Amino acid sequence: MTTPILECQDIAKTFGGFAAANAIDMRVDEGEIVGIIGSNGAGKTTLLNIVSGHLAPTTGRVMFRGEDVTGVPARVLARKGIARSFQVPQLFGTSTALENMMLATSLLAAPRRAIVSRFDDEGLAESAHEALAHYGIAEHGDSLVGELPQGVRKLLDIAMATSADPDLVLLDEPTSGVSSDEKNDVMQRLADRFIADEKTVVFIEHDMDIVRRYATRVVALTDGAVIADGTPEAVFADSAVAEQIVGMAHPAGTA
Ligand SMILES: Nc1ncnc2c1ncn2[C@@H]1O[C@H](COP(=O)(O)OP(=O)(O)OP(=O)(O)O)[C@@H](O)[C@H]1O
Ligand SMILES: [Mg+2]
Repeated sequence: MTTPILECQDIAKTFGGFAAANAIDMRVDEGEIVGIIGSNGAGKTTLLNIVSGHLAPTTGRVMFRGEDVTGVPARVLARKGIARSFQVPQLFGTSTALENMMLATSLLAAPRRAIVSRFDDEGLAESAHEALAHYGIAEHGDSLVGELPQGVRKLLDIAMATSADPDLVLLDEPTSGVSSDEKNDVMQRLADRFIADEKTVVFIEHDMDIVRRYATRVVALTDGAVIADGTPEAVFADSAVAEQIVGMAHPAGTA
């Protein structure tokens, strides 16, 4: 069997006496698009935070391409090829989309130089423009982020998060807050991009239609534990999943 790009081994995370993650095993192979589902508070973001190095697990191991990276900080994992986006986009609302992208690109190009001087670099605006074009949002470059539709904001956030060309992309609710009209377009663009660029993706999603359509495999969590792991068809047909997760209410705006 080939070495998986990501393996979570018996991961647990407790906050005080509360177990947010409990004995989680998850294997992700190169090229998979894995959807993580679960009700509010199931432990999805906690798991992603542990994989991305934003949280250390209480026990268990995270393996990236066979290397133990448990507790390695996010900025180090980013250099190894793991990138993630957050549930709420991490953007400067009073700057333009291009300026936001330039900031992400400049941090990569010259992390030790003062940000202000980097903005004078020839080519920075050009490479930021290309990065926006990669996700089909170049036309919004001059718009203030605060005035963009949520779908474009999410694409911009993910374009920024993936500007270092990672191998493993972790997305926390890529379509949350996006109108139902825009959702499929956002996810289709991301899927097209990631498949063409041969990235491996783990995404958290509450919209089951999106999961069914775009995930090649689904992992279902309840109370910090995996209750199902398999093809979308198999997981959605699982009686425990149907009872505990599918069709769950998810109040608008709280995702
Ligand atoms: N830093 C923390 N301190 C204490 N409890 C926490 C902390 N982070 C998460 N929790 C708790 O752990 C549980 C899992 O939280 P998590 O954010 O992982 O859920 P989630 O599945 O991402 O939910 P949602 O769908 O609402 O985003 C929740 O009960 C949450 O309150
Ligand atoms: Mg969450």
